[in-house]
Amino acid sequence: AQPIRVAVLGAGTVGAEVAHQLLTRAGELEARVGAPLVLAGVAVRDLEAQRTPALPKELLTTDAESLVLGAHIVVELIGGVERARELVLLALESGADVVTGNKALLATHGSELFTAAERVGAQLNYEAAVGGAIPIIRPLRDSLAGDDVRRILGIVNGTTNFVLDRMDEHDDTFEEALAEATRRGYAEADPSGDVSGTDAAHKAAILAGLAFHTRVPLDAVPVEGIERITPEQVRGARETGHVVKLLAICERLTGPDGTEGVSARVHPALLPRRHPLASVRAANNAVFVEAESAGDLMFYGAGAGGPETASAVLGDLVSAARRHVIGGPGLAAPPSSGLPVLDPGVVTSR
Ligand code: NDP
Ligand code: HSE
Repeated sequence: AQPIRVAVLGAGTVGAEVAHQLLTRAGELEARVGAPLVLAGVAVRDLEAQRTPALPKELLTTDAESLVLGAHIVVELIGGVERARELVLLALESGADVVTGNKALLATHGSELFTAAERVGAQLNYEAAVGGAIPIIRPLRDSLAGDDVRRILGIVNGTTNFVLDRMDEHDDTFEEALAEATRRGYAEADPSGDVSGTDAAHKAAILAGLAFHTRVPLDAVPVEGIERITPEQVRGARETGHVVKLLAICERLTGPDGTEGVSARVHPALLPRRHPLASVRAANNAVFVEAESAGDLMFYGAGAGGPETASAVLGDLVSAARRHVIGGPGLAAPPSSGLPVLDPGVVTSR
């Protein structure tokens, strides 16, 4: 099959990892897709900056537009809203599929972007936008589409969970813990969005929209962050068998006049240590879904980080690329990688 040209926008924590894996795992990904995925280039602002992992200099460009216009699939990982919106719209309008991890963009301009994608029959995939590595978008959008979701409780921001955990387990100060979360690449370029709960609110709006099949505008999501949480409060919670967590809560509700509706909100909460969400430590995330028929489901894993988030991005990329090869929504049997089946008694795992 024809090579599929992939443009990666951004070479920060996530973008550099995605580009690196496209280069180093090309054969493996080709076998899964059924066509080569060719990294056409990586758009950045600073051509001289150090990249982790390192990337070949000749792949870097500051001309994001030209890169987008020459690609079959565009992976947007620059973050922020306005520039990302322009580039994603340009990609969709040119007929390219888009993969993004940008929850701020989706929570503020999702309707416009999904409409643009529908108009040209392109895919807009965003599994990395909520919960980092955790598959939660597809389960809510597809697997649970026939059920009736009643409530979602989520720890959906890795940075704040890391900070609260460090204050609890290691007695770090707020500032020390936030600096470490930033150093590890969990925080947004401007970490105030994490700390204030805004990032979690973006994710709550996305989750509630998917779970309840409606549009949830960001300004309808009340938000309180962790700025005012003190070490004394964290210690006090511990002494009474509780833990402080920043929760996103999305619910179906009946108003006082009997009107059915939905709500989404973000705020710190005291959880008893035996609650399943209380054991979510470090930068992990978890999304607890209560559905009418399925009952309670919990999705858990790494909520942030380069390789972890790259897993979700690459999954979306493979899905979009398969559609180029086989047509349709990518649900047909994937091409065989040709890996032999070994006797489980004589192998050691990779
Ligand atoms: P970073 O801040 O680490 O990297 C952003 C990259 O985008 C940088 O390489 C920067 O270039 C580039 N960039 C920014 N603006 C422009 C522009 N106008 N034109 C070209 N390049 C630009 O971000 P992350 O990798 O952490 O995050 C990327 C996206 O993924 C965000 O939307 C974030 O919310 C999301 N995300 C992040 C997760 C994480 O764990 N970090 C997890 C899940 C989602 P330069 O380096 O030259 O300045
Ligand atoms: N800054 C975000 C977080 C990245 O800490 O959860 C993952 O979306």
